[in-house]
Amino acid sequence: MEHFRFYFITLRTTKLTGMWWLLAINTIVSIEGRYENVNIKQDWWETAVFYQIYPRSFMDSDNDGIGDLNGITSRLEYLKELGVDATWLSPIFKSPMHDFGYDVSDYYTIQPEYGSMEDFEQLLKKANELNIKIVLDFVPNHTSNESDWFVKSANRDEYYNDWYVWENGHLDDRGMRRPPNNWISVFRKSAWSYMPTRDQYYLHQFGEAQPDLNFRNPVVVEEIKNIIKFWLEKGVAGLRINSINYLYEADKDLYGGRYPSEPITGKPGLGPDDYGYLDHVYTKDQEETYDMVSQFRDVFDAITIRDNLTRIMMTEAFTSIKNAVKYYGEGIHLGAHIPFNFALIQDLDKESDARDIKYAVDRWLTYKPLKKQANWVVGNHDKSRVASRFRPELVDAFNMLVLLLPGIAITYMGEEIGMLNGFVPWSETKDPLACNTDDPVNFIEVSRDPVRTPFQWSNGKNAGFSTAENTWLPVADGFESLNVASQRSAVRSHYQVYRTLTNLRIRPAFRLGRYESLALNNDVFAFKRWYNDDTYIVVINVGKTYHIVNLTAFDLVFGQLEVEVSNVLSSRTYSDNVQANYLDLAADEALVLRMQV
Ligand code: GLC
Ligand code: MG
Ligand code: CA
Repeated sequence: MEHFRFYFITLRTTKLTGMWWLLAINTIVSIEGRYENVNIKQDWWETAVFYQIYPRSFMDSDNDGIGDLNGITSRLEYLKELGVDATWLSPIFKSPMHDFGYDVSDYYTIQPEYGSMEDFEQLLKKANELNIKIVLDFVPNHTSNESDWFVKSANRDEYYNDWYVWENGHLDDRGMRRPPNNWISVFRKSAWSYMPTRDQYYLHQFGEAQPDLNFRNPVVVEEIKNIIKFWLEKGVAGLRINSINYLYEADKDLYGGRYPSEPITGKPGLGPDDYGYLDHVYTKDQEETYDMVSQFRDVFDAITIRDNLTRIMMTEAFTSIKNAVKYYGEGIHLGAHIPFNFALIQDLDKESDARDIKYAVDRWLTYKPLKKQANWVVGNHDKSRVASRFRPELVDAFNMLVLLLPGIAITYMGEEIGMLNGFVPWSETKDPLACNTDDPVNFIEVSRDPVRTPFQWSNGKNAGFSTAENTWLPVADGFESLNVASQRSAVRSHYQVYRTLTNLRIRPAFRLGRYESLALNNDVFAFKRWYNDDTYIVVINVGKTYHIVNLTAFDLVFGQLEVEVSNVLSSRTYSDNVQANYLDLAADEALVLRMQV
């Protein structure tokens, strides 16, 4: 706060002259008035930069070809260098790895190939020293079928009997055993698997090895809360809650004691094994979910209050925008601090133009409760990388969006250097979603392996990720030139742009400032961020041709602007001047400009 005041005083006295002084002073007073009660003192997470690490692919310390915790610890300085405040790690708990940790067999133990509890404590300690917060991924919807809980439940152990979603099947006309209803798993085929020990089916909304827990059993809920507590007390800064919108299925008591089948969507080209074949009205986004999230939140808040250090909840739900923003909570029923915003993933593709970007961004900001923090996600371990989903030329532009739009920035590892999807042939495919297609040609359309290939540190063996003979997934082609080491030593690179952006976003205009956007034409998206008299314009040409644009289309933007950041292919560099009313932008050019007053 003190720091910001000082900053503005120097700015005001050095840069304002004559009439503008008066005009600007008025604006300052009114805007500052408005911000007085708002979070001028921000909590650590409110405008933080989060960096997602997929531990299996980040850094291998013991040369078994699999990334691990000591590997992460050894590279925390890299995160610091990037200007990252926090990292969230994909699952590290004990797992048979059918879905690479999203199938947990013991929530209180670290997966041995990733390290030990001591290794984890060491990671926390080092992160603490560097002031980097650690957030862990937590998967409450389902466990592994190798979990003790499931094994006991499958054997009708009295205590665990009702921990999973068990249901009788039925015999069809030909005397064949059939599942309880038509529900389909996200990973394709029936969501029900038969368990001979119980002569019943269990529900798995994801893979067969991932049985769904029964959230209508209060004992299960209690245990889930204990796990949250356990990890928060260990010192993690928060948890990302996986697949939150699958927690509940319809209450079968409301349907005569049987889970109702789901209606067919009628979407062309889909068969009864495909997830999209059904409209998931009974297995997704059930109303009870929001209350459970608010109960989870109470667990976070209790520890926050006790330690006087905010522990945050991030929630993952691929759903409609109206459902997505419900995760913020309502009134006294608080929800997640950070409900992931997938607008830049769900609403944009290769064909998207400036109007689509404006629409996607503004739409989220419109639906988001006014006082809550927005967040921006452009990739993760499930979705195609930016350079592949859009094109490599737009890497810096998307990092500008993620890092300079209002709120929290969330980067998937590798996006800072513009990594491309790797190529993983059918013979080496590991992702259960891809394997379940049984289709050596079309698996590529759904496979998530290409975004999980080893992180590219250098042009050395296995891109510097591991010295093993074989890495768990092959390293992507092109790592010899696309890697951290080469971008670090280059004067201009995605890495350098990323660092400049994280550094820039510390300024009040980005942390606290207001936002306005325009599609200046079909190709050029621009937004303005300002706080008091400090004004920035981010302008991005997503088109394939050159354009001349007029930035005075924005209110109170005029005169000259100075280049703060330019993308790697721009011919402009830091401190170049441009005219607000006449800016020529090359194809794919992206700039962050600061108004000169
Ligand atoms: C989440 C994870 C994904 C996983 C799925 C099932 O969507 O991000 O990787 O496969 O949940 O647990
Ligand atoms: Mg290893
Ligand atoms: Ca469930």
